[in-house]
Amino acid sequence: MNITDHMILWIWILTSVKASILYTAVVRGKVALPCDISSPSADDSAALILWYKDDSAQPIYTLDARRGNVDHAHQASSPELESRAYFNMINRPAFLQLDPVKEDDAGEYRCRVDFHKARTVNTVITLKVIVPSGEPVITDSQGQKLKGLIGPVNEGDSLELTCQVAGGKPRPSLTWWREYTLLDDDYIFISEDVVKNTLKITELKRHDLLAILTCQASNNNITVPSSCAVTLDLNVKPVEVKIHPYQRPLSADSEVNMTCTSNGSRPAAKITWWKGKKQLQHARESINRAGVSTSMLTFVPSVDDNGKFLTCRAENPLISNSVIEDGWKLQIYFPPQVALHLKNLPIAGEIQEGNDVYLECSIRSNPWIHSISWQFEGMDIKTNLVSGIMITNQTLVIQSVQLSHKGHFTCSASNDEGLGVSNKIYINVKYAPQCQTEQKTTFGVAKQETVRVSCSLVADPADVTFSWMFNSSTKQSGDIRYSSNKTHSVAIYTPKTDNDYGTMLCWGINDVGIQRKPCVFTILPAGV
Ligand SMILES: *[C@@H]1O[C@H](CO)[C@@H](O)[C@H](O)[C@H]1NC(C)=O
Ligand SMILES: *[C@@H]1O[C@H](CO)[C@@H](O)[C@H](O)[C@H]1NC(C)=O
Ligand SMILES: *[C@@H]1O[C@H](CO)[C@@H](O)[C@H](O)[C@H]1NC(C)=O
Ligand SMILES: *[C@@H]1O[C@H](CO)[C@@H](O)[C@H](O)[C@H]1NC(C)=O
Ligand SMILES: *[C@@H]1O[C@H](CO)[C@@H](O)[C@H](O)[C@H]1NC(C)=O
Ligand SMILES: *[C@@H]1O[C@H](CO)[C@@H](O)[C@H](O)[C@H]1NC(C)=O
Repeated sequence: MNITDHMILWIWILTSVKASILYTAVVRGKVALPCDISSPSADDSAALILWYKDDSAQPIYTLDARRGNVDHAHQASSPELESRAYFNMINRPAFLQLDPVKEDDAGEYRCRVDFHKARTVNTVITLKVIVPSGEPVITDSQGQKLKGLIGPVNEGDSLELTCQVAGGKPRPSLTWWREYTLLDDDYIFISEDVVKNTLKITELKRHDLLAILTCQASNNNITVPSSCAVTLDLNVKPVEVKIHPYQRPLSADSEVNMTCTSNGSRPAAKITWWKGKKQLQHARESINRAGVSTSMLTFVPSVDDNGKFLTCRAENPLISNSVIEDGWKLQIYFPPQVALHLKNLPIAGEIQEGNDVYLECSIRSNPWIHSISWQFEGMDIKTNLVSGIMITNQTLVIQSVQLSHKGHFTCSASNDEGLGVSNKIYINVKYAPQCQTEQKTTFGVAKQETVRVSCSLVADPADVTFSWMFNSSTKQSGDIRYSSNKTHSVAIYTPKTDNDYGTMLCWGINDVGIQRKPCVFTILPAGV
C-alpha cells in the first residue's frame, strides 16, 4: 500500500483523535507496518524513531539518529520482537517489517518520529493477526477418515461426508466444493474451536463418477484456504443396450449371429440373452477397453420361435435394479407346413361311391403362401366339373365320388422360403357290386343237359349276397340252384323244355347297396 502525502496529514489528524489504520497479518506470514519518516522541510530529518505497542511505556523498537545520520543510526528491538523486526528506511514510506508474525503481535502500534526541528509525528496502526485453521478432516458416516479415492459406491445410493476443522482465528467458514461449484456452505460451530459441515447427496448420479469433492476451511483472504479432497469412485448402471441386426425376420433352421452391445456400465455390464422366459446359453461375451460389453449369440431359430420375445439384457452385477433390455417379437420365416385331412368323413376307408368328399389343406406358413396346388396320384389337378372336382382356396371337393377317384391325394403350397407338400390321403371308394366285364355271357345247352353259369362281380366290400333269376317272354323263375363264394357265383341249370331257354340274371348285394344292373347270361339251345 502506498501512503501518499495527503494520507500522512490524514493520519496525523486521526492520531489526535486516537483513530488508526487497520492492517491484517497472518500468523507465520509477514507484515509491513508503514511509518512516514520524511521531514516536512528539506533542511530537517528524523532524529529518533520509536515504535510503541498498546499501552506499553517502553518502546518495542528504537532507532536513534540524534548523534548522526539516520542511515547509520543505532537500532534496537525489544525481546518479544527478537530478530523478527526490521525497519526499512530506504522504502518510502519506511516500514517496520515483522517476519514471522506471531498471534501475540496483534494490537495497536504507534510509530513516533521526532525530527531535529519539526514537531513530532505519530502514526497509529491497528494490527489484526489471523490464525489460520488446521487441516480439515473428512470422515464417512462410520467416522472413518477418508482421503484420495473413496468408494466405490453405487449410482442411486446416498452419500454422507462429514468435514471438521479445528482452530483458526477468527473461526473459519467450512464449505464443500465440487471443482468451482459451491455445494454446501451450511456449517455449524460444534464447540469453541471446531467447525463442522456435513455434505449430503441423496442420490448419486453417473456424472458424480470421479467427482472431486473438496472441503475448504477459510478465515481470511490472504492465505490459500486449507482443504481436504476426496475423489468419488462410483459403480454406474448401463446406459444403452442394442441388438444387431435389429428386428429382421429370420429363416427357420438357419444359423444367425446376433450381437448385443451395452455401454455406460462400470464395471462393464453382464449381458444375457432370453427367449421368452428361458435364458439362452452359449453366447460369447467380450469387453473392450472403453468398458463396452458385447455378446454374440449364435442362434438357430425354429418354427416354434415365431412370435416369441427375444431379449438381450444388460446389467451391472453390483447394482440390483440396473437391468436394461432390448428385444422384439421374433418373426421366423419358414417354408409352408402343409397337412391334408378329410373334413366331413372320419375315415378315408369308409368312403362310399356317391359320397361328397371334402379334403382340406391346413397350412402354417410365414410369410403367407403365394400359391397352392393339388395332386392326384402325383399329377396336378384343377377344378373339373365334369369329373366332379371343385377346388376353392384350401378345400377340394369331390362331388359324388366314383371309382375313378380312388387313389392318393396331396396338396402343396409355396412361399418365398420354399415349397411344402402335404401327407398323402388315400381315397378308397367302396361300391355296390358291378358285373365284371369280359366274362362268358352266352351258353349253348341241349335239353336235359346241365350247364354251370358262372357270374363274376366286382365289389367292395367283397362280401356279396347273390340272387339269380330266369327270364324269358313266357317264364320268370327264381327257383335256381347256385353256390357262391365272395364275388363269384355259379348256377347249375338244366333246360327241360323250349320254355327254359331265355336269359339268366345274376346280381349281388353288399354293405354299400344292391347291384344296379344285373349281369345277363343268354341260354340258347345247343347247335343254334
Ligand atoms: C479481504 O478481506 C477484507 C476484510 O474482510 C476486505 O476488506 C478486503 O476487501 C478483502 N480483500 C480482497 C482482495 O478480497
Ligand atoms: C457365426 O459365428 C461363428 C463364429 O464366429 C462362425 O463360425 C459362423 O460361421 C457364423 N455364422 C454365420 C451364419 O455367420
Ligand atoms: C453409449 O452409446 C451411445 C450410442 O452409441 C452414445 O450415444 C452414448 O453416449 C453412449 N453412452 C455412454 C455412457 O458411453
Ligand atoms: C378364397 O380366397 C379368396 C381370395 O383368394 C377369398 O376372397 C375368399 O374369401 C376365400 N374363400 C374362403 C372360403 O376362404
Ligand atoms: C324278361 O324278359 C322280357 C322279354 O324278353 C322283358 O320284357 C323283361 O323286361 C325281362 N325282365 C327282366 C327282369 O329282365
Ligand atoms: C372260395 O374261393 C377261394 C379262392 O377262390 C377258396 O380258397 C375257398 O376255398 C372258397 N370257399 C368256398 C367255401 O368254396
